[in-house]
Amino acid sequence: MNAAPLPPVKLGVLISGEGTNLQAIIDAIAGGDLRAEIRLVISNKASAGGLERARRHGISVMTIDHRGYANRRDFDHALAEALQSHDVELVVCAGFMRLLSPVMIDAFRGRIMNIHPALCPAFPGVNAVRQALAYGARFTGCTVFFVTAGVDDGPIIVQAVVPVLQDDDEAALAARIHAEEHRIYPLAIRLYQERRLEIDGRIVRIRDYGHSAASGTLVNPRLD
Ligand code: GAR
Repeated sequence: MNAAPLPPVKLGVLISGEGTNLQAIIDAIAGGDLRAEIRLVISNKASAGGLERARRHGISVMTIDHRGYANRRDFDHALAEALQSHDVELVVCAGFMRLLSPVMIDAFRGRIMNIHPALCPAFPGVNAVRQALAYGARFTGCTVFFVTAGVDDGPIIVQAVVPVLQDDDEAALAARIHAEEHRIYPLAIRLYQERRLEIDGRIVRIRDYGHSAASGTLVNPRLD
């Protein structure tokens, strides 16, 4: 007898900008690749393009402008209250350009994900793509991780590697990283929905990991 399928995970998505990762999550749900329901999208900026994407799909949206709050904690109280009142289980930061305080981290302990356009722990903070180019890295990529109090340094769930090409400028490299982000964020959420993620200190263990993981070594430039 097959076990009953696990229920869809109830998401609250936090954005500040274009929302292409939000779109990838919406598409993964619509395409049947992810059992999730987006209960609410919150932006700290009324002009964020992602709000329109959410509206188009009939998703509840809210703008909570950080400038209306005296400090980070008060802003985070407003965020937590909105998310809790929409029965959100997992908070997904998708280009949300605010650091979260202990107020949010305690309210959703182990239940906040973020994505960063670099291979953490390299190049944390802003302009990660520019940092990788300026450093001369041969590889960069993107990381989905559980949010902790530090900057882009929480337990890592999924990473994708993107080679840096000799003629890359920031826009070209960012576009290739973005394409990978759109693949790994829905995957990380799916692993959560399937209850396969276990946080053990700063290590995330994946149940039924199997032997399907990429095991090839990447070299850039090619050796041959
Ligand atoms: C993404 O590239 C994400 O990795 C980055 O913001 C972009 C948002 O794009 N986040 C950070 O830099 C966080 N440190 P989107 O609005 O099109 O999803």
